[in-house]
Amino acid sequence: MRDDTWAGLADQFADEAYASVKGYVRTYVLHQQLLEHLPPPPAPVLDVGGGAGHQSFPLAQAGYDVTLLDPSPAMLDKAQQRLQRLPAEAQRRVTLVQAGGENADEAVNGRRFAAVLCHGVLGYLEQPEPLVNQLCRCAAAGGVVSIMTGNAKAMAVRPALERRWDDALAAFDAKTEIGVLGVPGRADTVEELSELVRSRGVEPLRWYGVWLFVDWLEFSGAELDPSDSRQVAATAEVELEASRRDPYRQLSRVFHLVGRKGPS
Ligand SMILES: C[S@@+](CC[C@H](N)C(=O)[O-])C[C@H]1O[C@@H](n2cnc3c(N)ncnc32)[C@H](O)[C@@H]1O
Repeated sequence: MRDDTWAGLADQFADEAYASVKGYVRTYVLHQQLLEHLPPPPAPVLDVGGGAGHQSFPLAQAGYDVTLLDPSPAMLDKAQQRLQRLPAEAQRRVTLVQAGGENADEAVNGRRFAAVLCHGVLGYLEQPEPLVNQLCRCAAAGGVVSIMTGNAKAMAVRPALERRWDDALAAFDAKTEIGVLGVPGRADTVEELSELVRSRGVEPLRWYGVWLFVDWLEFSGAELDPSDSRQVAATAEVELEASRRDPYRQLSRVFHLVGRKGPS
């Protein structure tokens, strides 16, 4: 990669964002949602744009065989550092690959996976199609495709909670914004993304929200203590329940779509 955009964001994202209550909730909620669909370990999992491994390393610890693919050397360094803190057995189940998601199939030498994850990546790309193509292609017949991305129907939430009312009014019909990491981002709708994967042989199974209440609390200025483990665990349970039902999931600023590839 000639220009590692993520070099300047690696610490902020991998260390700071994930150390917050919101970071904990994100990992927990997505993990539980994934377990509803994944085959048992040691099924092979490909994490495209896997960053520092926050979502896929817990799967390696649960016995899955994980390949983490990311174009950013800085993010892969973070992943390598975090990997060294895992038990040796889990470390052996993880392979790191440097490549853009648009070249995933070639980078994994045509291997097919029981699950292909892509969380928090699509929104940074101008067009979702080339990456979605690869995600669907890399899934084995009957395999799961799991995509988390910005929810274009909830774009007014953040500016409104930050009391940027002009921005909030403009955001109802917007699909782009400067995201919390200060990088321009693009959002999708559940319907559009469902259609994209469906047209590539992956049938949508279910969609979820990710965070709701912690997001709202944080944007309105509340401080949540990540060291209060009892509160954090209770919060995560509430968020998991909200992520599964209407109307709560519809208001989550990000959504998680899970689909299954048909027989080839
Ligand atoms: C917000 S981070 C998400 C990391 C990880 N998926 C997670 O949920 O913790 C976005 C990641 O996307 C990666 N990325 C950026 N462009 C990409 C592309 N074209 N293909 C695959 N990954 C990409 C970045 O290097 C970064 O690691």
